[in-house]
Amino acid sequence: MTNISKEFVYSLPKAELHLHLEGTLEPELKLRLAQKNNIELKEKTVEEVEATYQFNDLTSFLAVYYPGMDVLVEKEDFYDLAMAYFKEVQKHNVKYVEVFFDPQAHTTRGVAFETFFEGYYQATQDAKELGIEAHLIMCFLRDLSEESAFEHYEMAKPFYDRILGIGLDSDERNNPPLKFERVFKQAKSDGFHITMHCDIDQVGSIQNISDALHVIGVERIDHGTNIVEDQALVDYVIANNIGLTSCPVSNSFVTEDMKGKEVKELLDQGVKVTINSDDPAYFKSYVSDDLIAVANYMELSEADVVKLVKNAFEIAWTSKANINQYLKQVDEYVASYQAK
Ligand code: HPA
Ligand code: ZN
Repeated sequence: MTNISKEFVYSLPKAELHLHLEGTLEPELKLRLAQKNNIELKEKTVEEVEATYQFNDLTSFLAVYYPGMDVLVEKEDFYDLAMAYFKEVQKHNVKYVEVFFDPQAHTTRGVAFETFFEGYYQATQDAKELGIEAHLIMCFLRDLSEESAFEHYEMAKPFYDRILGIGLDSDERNNPPLKFERVFKQAKSDGFHITMHCDIDQVGSIQNISDALHVIGVERIDHGTNIVEDQALVDYVIANNIGLTSCPVSNSFVTEDMKGKEVKELLDQGVKVTINSDDPAYFKSYVSDDLIAVANYMELSEADVVKLVKNAFEIAWTSKANINQYLKQVDEYVASYQAK
């Protein structure tokens, strides 16, 4: 166990960089939206919804996750979903978030791009009133085709100035980064920030990380802690200030452990590794809980936790002035806590 208090971690100013908006759908909201939209669900109570959370790897998680989105229909449903997340993480003193959304998970159900986009975007604007700077990262589903990714990239055109970056998620098995080389190169040349999931312990994890870094030229890797297996890649991300967004509690659900050892090793080597919640409604863990989980598991020091938190601000896709302001808030909080 760590000797760091829960209060210290909850109150530290924080950033979250690996968060799927669709993964913040809490059972209560799911039930409410199902009723509002006249969608017949087999589950009638929170307990019954939670009883469907049976997963032990990424594929079995995604098989629960995608059908759960059926209750999201109208613009205000997407707004309410995102707003509920922002309100929740305000309690964790989160100051800055970059959130993923999955257009193809909605268009393939007949929901228009502007419906979910306008709802999500309005919530990011209203998050400012909660003291949170929020940005959107549009992800492609890697188990769909390159053609579909390009189609959605085109569909998003009217909204480009409200999208910060482009990501890649869903099932990595047989869907490596190079399948999307062209669309990511296009996005990069159009000025978007780019990142990709390199999920834990996949077939070809190291090759996929190498291709994402060297061929695609990603600026971050989501998960990606298998990189510890290849020192040349570790040296490369350190030299190029490329961050990794690790999600310990998510890892503990879809792999055999939270990969805390890898996180600590990367942290000690100077990699910009960060701690995030991924899909907090499904894994019952918001960002502070993830930090506490990994701190307990690895007996992290207060300095380690502060470094993990600062790493997230340091690799955030916002202005240098904003980053410095957030880092100052962290320093001031730590100093005031220590003076207590
Ligand atoms: N990996 C891939 N796809 C996902 C994830 C993840 O961690 N969470 C939601 N979609
Ligand atoms: Zn993820």
